[in-house]
Amino acid sequence: MTITTLVKDLPLHDGKDVSLNGWVNNFRSSGKLSFIEFRDGTGYMQVVAALDGLDANSADAIRKLTLETSVSIEGKVSKHPRRPAEYELQLKQIRIHQIAEEYPIGKKDHGPDFLLANRHLWLRSKKQWAIQKVRNTLINAIYEFLNGEGFTKIDAPIITSNACEGTTTLFEFQYFDLGKGYLSQSGQLYLEAAIYSHGRCFDFGPVFRAEKSKTKKHLTEFWMMDAEMAYVEHAQNMEIQEKMVKFLFKAVLDKNSAELKMLERDLAALERVVKEPFAKITHAQAVELLRSMGSEITAEIDLGANDERLLAQKYDVPVFIEKWPSKIKAFYMKRDPSDPNLVLGSDLMAPEGFGEIIGGSQREDDYQLLLSRMEQENLNALEFKWYLELRKYGSVPHSGFGIGLERLVTWVTGAEHIRETIPFPRMITRFYP
Ligand code: 4AD
Ligand code: MG
Repeated sequence: MTITTLVKDLPLHDGKDVSLNGWVNNFRSSGKLSFIEFRDGTGYMQVVAALDGLDANSADAIRKLTLETSVSIEGKVSKHPRRPAEYELQLKQIRIHQIAEEYPIGKKDHGPDFLLANRHLWLRSKKQWAIQKVRNTLINAIYEFLNGEGFTKIDAPIITSNACEGTTTLFEFQYFDLGKGYLSQSGQLYLEAAIYSHGRCFDFGPVFRAEKSKTKKHLTEFWMMDAEMAYVEHAQNMEIQEKMVKFLFKAVLDKNSAELKMLERDLAALERVVKEPFAKITHAQAVELLRSMGSEITAEIDLGANDERLLAQKYDVPVFIEKWPSKIKAFYMKRDPSDPNLVLGSDLMAPEGFGEIIGGSQREDDYQLLLSRMEQENLNALEFKWYLELRKYGSVPHSGFGIGLERLVTWVTGAEHIRETIPFPRMITRFYP
């Protein structure tokens, strides 16, 4: 019996016979030699089949191969003759599980609509494979970082009775006899309750925004990690975010060098994130800078896609934009004690034009101030009764932030569009497959 292994483990079996289970990613023949590009989910390798040396069943199978045919193969592992870091397999036996019908993807360049309609198949493409591997590393590194920093995972609900991030992007539905329910836009408010039990908490799961904008950066369902910390103020909030982002980039550089190479990602840009300190400017400074670069932004509007590009011309490291006008930020952000028109909030902007990755702030911890902010925003204080009450029973200064997983994956992988970073993207114009 030969040992069954995985492509990623081939270096452990140099010179030995092994078997593997997977798919034909590509193949070509030249005379009596056939070359199969084989993949098994853990990686890709070349299989060399000399027809003369195979038993009749295997030789017959080789003649029948099509793209995506599922196969089990057996052979001897050896170093790739021209690529010293890679291994290949000298085929001894091959068994077909199913001969794939003519595969729709791969023969020519396809447009995004075709690829998205075939997302169930497109996921198998090399670039899509590499992006999901990086996403997986980031997910695990987020858990690793937060566990190391003493956070407890608290699972916030998805069905909620109040909005978190304003009402313009809410998905609503009728919740039995109890009135309107909403799909969560962020678990933040619930985490604010949980810090009084655990000190530092996080959640990590899908959130929903009925975004009417068709951009490269918006999904209607995306994954967010919200973190919330008692006794942490605005400046320390940004320090923790910077430490986390550096940790995540280092994890990807350590674990995904093959994937980053497939994605042709500029490694120097990723290394800069790990090594260099992030920049920090106030919203007012950002407005002044952007206007001097030709933007029409004013103090009362959020940055647009063009502003994000301009900012990237100025900075090649991530930039915190802090102290925003309260008018354009969420009701829960704490006022800046030195200027009540501003809030102690920050957005972390990625370099290279990837835009906002993290939104965070210190939270208003005073009952009356929070109530008056809610009144200004025409929010129904009754729906938020529980949230307001947190300011009555041992209120403390506290801060938190939310990172959009797909924005992060887009940045790390350099993907063209956010839709490539989530297995099955949901956008205003698409929710199939
Ligand atoms: O800035 P946002 O709206 O902040 C919050 O929801 C806070 N409650 C988070 C917190 O303090 N706990 O969203 C956070 C991040 C953004 O910076 C962005 O990365 C991502 O979520 N995001 C989106 N990603 C994809 N598609 C969308 N429509 C997104 N909207 C926000
Ligand atoms: Mg934001």
